[in-house]
Amino acid sequence: MKIPFSSRLPWPSHPNRLAGLLAERRAAGLPTLNLAESNPTRVGLERGAGFLAPLAAAGGLRYAPEPRGLPAAREALAAFTAAANGAPTAAIPAAGGRGAAFPRLGPERFFLCSSTSEAYGWLFKLLCEPGDAVLVPKPGYPLFDFLAGLEAVEARPYRLEYFHPKGWRIDLDSVEEALRGGRVRAIVLIHPNNPTGSYVRAEERSSLVALAARYGAALIVDEVFLRFPVGGRAEASFAGEEGVLTFVLDGLSKLLGAPQLKLGWIAASGPGTVLAEALGRLEIIADTYLSAGTPVMGALPELLAAAPAFLSGLGERLRANLATLEEILGGPDSPHRVLACEGGWTALLEAPRPASEEELAVGLLNEEGLQTHPGYFFDMEREAYFAASLILPGKELAEAARRYRAYFDRLLR
Ligand SMILES: Cc1ncc(COP(=O)(O)O)c(C=O)c1O
Repeated sequence: MKIPFSSRLPWPSHPNRLAGLLAERRAAGLPTLNLAESNPTRVGLERGAGFLAPLAAAGGLRYAPEPRGLPAAREALAAFTAAANGAPTAAIPAAGGRGAAFPRLGPERFFLCSSTSEAYGWLFKLLCEPGDAVLVPKPGYPLFDFLAGLEAVEARPYRLEYFHPKGWRIDLDSVEEALRGGRVRAIVLIHPNNPTGSYVRAEERSSLVALAARYGAALIVDEVFLRFPVGGRAEASFAGEEGVLTFVLDGLSKLLGAPQLKLGWIAASGPGTVLAEALGRLEIIADTYLSAGTPVMGALPELLAAAPAFLSGLGERLRANLATLEEILGGPDSPHRVLACEGGWTALLEAPRPASEEELAVGLLNEEGLQTHPGYFFDMEREAYFAASLILPGKELAEAARRYRAYFDRLLR
């Protein structure tokens, strides 16, 4: 019998060569060190089971379906967002202070869901007909083809350009060109972007708001890395942006390094009537899924109280790791370059290219036991680049960087 499966999912999916080699190494019991480790529960940030105690509160025994999520959880989020964005002197490391210009968002503006990935799905459903498009940054993290594809939506790229040592800029002409291609319902901004570590700059922001308004597109702003500035320069949150319909995404995956808790959220803002309609329509989507679990929503006020300590502790590690990379791979005589990084959990390394990125990645794995994410994972325009995780424990990151350097030193001899 032949079943006509949906074309939303690309299939068949062949495991790539690197994934195959990695699986073989694992099966052979060979150790690997992952230069691109992005799982925060594997990098020595683990907490004791006490961390989960708030999830055991008795409130979690009752089910009271609320489309936007439990009111107490949304009130805690509203207060957290206001404190984090509003006052540079607040205990929470604020990314810039310009958020103070925006009104405090009430709890009715927040929608809780299981993750930011799910939030994208909800927003694409809210905004797009099948065949419509959303604009996504390139380079960017590779999930968008799937997130958009699953909603029968096109993920259309716009460019980010790198200027050393100043950093990345959004190519606004490429944004406008993609908008002119038609059917664009949203511009996705990752603030700061993964893996480029670049915030949307204030001057880019005003152009993007104006462009989105002109072309009738919403902004979807992924701020999961907003509160992890590393390079000294950070920008304000988009939460409360009123120039155009705006959805800001965040969640516990990064804010608390706890993706296993499965809690994300959307904060909506924008001009009056369109916002009111968006909130009403989004509520229907949220009510259909009722995704967020009661125990984790009940625990949110206590969990958010733990965020400032987590942010400042991990922030220190990120900055120290970036300095380590610079020490091992930077400098005027080095054939390597650590690209400017303003925020987030990843730094990009530019490498010499005596062979293709894939060949280099295979060599690093076979000869140094080093697992890597080469630039083509992120749609870099040219080769060779590798992602370095800044959340690794300092000693592991230093060891990974030394092996990386040693591999190239041998190759270039
Ligand atoms: C920019 C960005 N947004 C969202 C996510 C996914 O977060 P969540 O676990 O909330 O789906 C990731 C994961 O790495 C990410 O890099």
